[in-house]
Amino acid sequence: MCPVVWGIWFSLSSILLWGAPEVNTSWWYMGAMGSRVICDNIPGLISQQRRLCHKHPDVMQSIGAGIKDWIRECQHQFSHHRWNCNTIDRDHNLFGRVILRSSMEAAFVYAISSAGVVFAVTRACSQGELSSCSCDPKKKGSTKDNKGNFDWGGCSDNVNYGIRYARAFIDAKDRKEKDARALMNLHNNRSGRKAVKRFLKLECKCHGVSGSCSVRTCWLAMADFRKTGDYLRRKYSGAIQVVMNQDGTGFTVANKKFKKPTKSDLVYFENSPDYCITDREAGSLGTAGRVCNRTSRSMDSCEVMCCGRGYDTSHVMRMTKCECKFQWCCAVRCRDCHETVDVHTCKAPKNADWLDQT
Ligand SMILES: *[C@@H]1O[C@H](CO)[C@@H](O)[C@H](O)[C@H]1NC(C)=O
Ligand SMILES: *[C@@H]1O[C@H](CO)[C@@H](O)[C@H](O)[C@H]1NC(C)=O
Repeated sequence: MCPVVWGIWFSLSSILLWGAPEVNTSWWYMGAMGSRVICDNIPGLISQQRRLCHKHPDVMQSIGAGIKDWIRECQHQFSHHRWNCNTIDRDHNLFGRVILRSSMEAAFVYAISSAGVVFAVTRACSQGELSSCSCDPKKKGSTKDNKGNFDWGGCSDNVNYGIRYARAFIDAKDRKEKDARALMNLHNNRSGRKAVKRFLKLECKCHGVSGSCSVRTCWLAMADFRKTGDYLRRKYSGAIQVVMNQDGTGFTVANKKFKKPTKSDLVYFENSPDYCITDREAGSLGTAGRVCNRTSRSMDSCEVMCCGRGYDTSHVMRMTKCECKFQWCCAVRCRDCHETVDVHTCKAPKNADWLDQT
């Protein structure tokens, strides 16, 4: 991008920075800075993170550029929920006050952001974009799996480097503080970092006489980030509520009837707000105006999404492809058709809510 645009952009962003109180700023804010990272211009980096940033500006760039990817994944996972992982413009914390509460949603965001850093750094290593790492140097020589012997070849994703880097960078802040929330964060951050590693898979190429596969070269590759997103989403559903233990050094499960959290589980302290109405304190946007599904029976049903307030229906004209015909050879030709579909959106609460929005 040309320097003038950047100049304008930076002065704009510094106006934003001056305008908002600097509470709880986080490295997440780097996402707003796109792939251009200037260590001293990022609010919210603590000294240790700033040091790492100066030492490895290229890694910071990958982390910054990766932020939109894990946010998109978070929004995909929660698109049918009342809380939909919405980000808040101009908020240094990106997700607003939702994150301040020690809820399941906060647990999920911490986990997926940590996973996102691991993924972004590891991928950048493999693509040769970073000076401090490359493909996994340990994957050399030959070894075997259940199908027999193979040679390591190609580029194995160096996920351990990604994990180490994410730990050093993200957990820089709270590793010393031992309050309850820091313990919760540490746990969920680690759970997220390790999630990526679960979806490393062995990919192989066959060699040998007419594809006999008598010789194989293989490498370890990370799966699509969607896999990690789906996994953490399941972990969110099974997140375990915990309380601090007596001496304040760790936590135990809140309800003795439930199982103890393992390292891969997500943990949280506080129940969530219902996210039905706008509540600035809780960081809830409310569901007024959200699209709901009249026939669904799950979270996106109009009943659940609109919290019993009812919904409005509008007819929306849509363009679709229709009367598609296969033409020899090889094309499919369609006509553009118009169809009207009903779109249902949640009503706003009758009173009080609009007061809150002013
Ligand atoms: C966990 O991750 C969050 C968000 O990435 C970060 O702000 C925090 O410092 C990390 N570590 C702990 C222990 O909270
Ligand atoms: C609404 O939910 C039903 C049942 O789950 C599903 O089959 C349908 O595709 C959904 N409609 C939309 C527009 O998402």
